Amino acid sequence: MERAEFLKQLGTGAVAVCAYCGLVSCSDDNDSVTPTNGIDFTINIEDASFSPLKSVGGFVYKDGVIIARTGTDSFVALSKSCTHNNVAVEYSASASKMICNAHGSEFSTSGAVLRGPAQVPLRSYNTSFKSPELRVFS
Ligand code: FES
Repeated sequence: MERAEFLKQLGTGAVAVCAYCGLVSCSDDNDSVTPTNGIDFTINIEDASFSPLKSVGGFVYKDGVIIARTGTDSFVALSKSCTHNNVAVEYSASASKMICNAHGSEFSTSGAVLRGPAQVPLRSYNTSFKSPELRVFS
């Protein structure tokens, strides 16, 4: 292979990689707060911004935490950033697990890794629900 041809192919590959990065965000822009061990907040699910939690299967993000309603009176709260590359996970009610759409990692509702490439579990937080208030705490 000629040097010029090699450089041309290298350039095409670099453009393809850059285009891919532009299409697939490697970070989450919605809520960039990284949760710490000191999580302790209370939300009102009647507030418009948390209204998805009024229905089983709904989920929201707050302060770096994904909160999902898994049953009539049951909720889960986990660190929202996928441990592979920090993309926000989503709750799949039909599969009863957290899914990262970036590269396919899956986590149980307790945060355990079910499928990689992620290797590290999501941090799990406690919840306490007394309608309409939901407390999330470590
Ligand atoms: S960021 Fe890669 S699987 Fe989630």
